[in-house]
Amino acid sequence: QTLLHGKHLITFQDWTNPEIEMALNVASDLKRRFAMGEAHRLLQDKTLFMMFFEQSTRTRNSMEAGMTQLGGHAHDLTPDKMQLSHGESAKDTAMVLSRMGHGIACRNCFYGIGNPYLNELAKHASIPVMSLQDDLYHPMQVIADLMTIREYFGTNTKGLKVTLSWAYATSHAKPLSVPISQFLMFPRFGMDVTIAAPKEFPFPDFLVKQAGENARKFGGSLRYTEDMDEGFEGAHIVIPKNWGGFGNWSFDEYNANEEACKQEMKANLEKHRDWICDERRMKLAAPEVKYMHALPADRGREVTDAVIDGPASIIYDEAENRLHTAKAVMALTMGGRP
Ligand code: CP
Repeated sequence: QTLLHGKHLITFQDWTNPEIEMALNVASDLKRRFAMGEAHRLLQDKTLFMMFFEQSTRTRNSMEAGMTQLGGHAHDLTPDKMQLSHGESAKDTAMVLSRMGHGIACRNCFYGIGNPYLNELAKHASIPVMSLQDDLYHPMQVIADLMTIREYFGTNTKGLKVTLSWAYATSHAKPLSVPISQFLMFPRFGMDVTIAAPKEFPFPDFLVKQAGENARKFGGSLRYTEDMDEGFEGAHIVIPKNWGGFGNWSFDEYNANEEACKQEMKANLEKHRDWICDERRMKLAAPEVKYMHALPADRGREVTDAVIDGPASIIYDEAENRLHTAKAVMALTMGGRP
């Protein structure tokens, strides 16, 4: 069934393919309406509570602008503005916000904490809870990625070769929530996914199992390599995620341990300095290859300007589609037919 009113979105593993297709179709319709300047106030007078435990450019603004365009309002909350900072429980937070509005969205990427926190909110909320990224999943990113891929390659994505590549993790890392979400999602749409990453940064076993099941069920495939060149060979889409330079600490953590964080970043950068997406590697891919990145990108370290600003790059389409897909998810889960 494709009626999504009231449904949570913590991971698309909880959504069926027809439900995802529905969201993609609505996103395309909303994109057209936005381009035409046509009103689409599907969430008139509705309220979304957004809780950001970490910084964000794309996620925050796509959700907030999206709610405005849908005729509602998004409260932009951080723990310091709430009693979360005094230890109020996820249960009480979810119960109270459920009495006051129509949706709860949360980014909490703390390792081992973020996903359980989101699940606890969802368990107690009587309104939809949406993940804005946790330590395992980034559903709002992956649905925008899927929309972008379908815009460039068509809706039949069977046999499309996609390479996910990274060489970065720290003890404080958001553990690969973007590639994990892509790795779970793309085989469900028939894509042949290659993972190119050094062996010291593997996916959790239970997710490898789930992705394998998705590939078997839906006709996609998974391949693993520790060689970035090999990973790029023949790819139609390459998605090398950032692995250094930024680190993935919360603002507070970084400020409290600035020197240690810098040292850790430096060590990671040195160790995998050769894992860069450059023009030579792009030539190993298929002639029609597209370069994607969730952003922010670490220019000069993980990708050269020539690639990220070059003709294969579709990063700004991908970023724009965050808006349209976020609106579709919100319109369907917070509004729509009960
Ligand atoms: N891609 C992404 O989630 O970007 P932000 O961290 O800026 O939201």
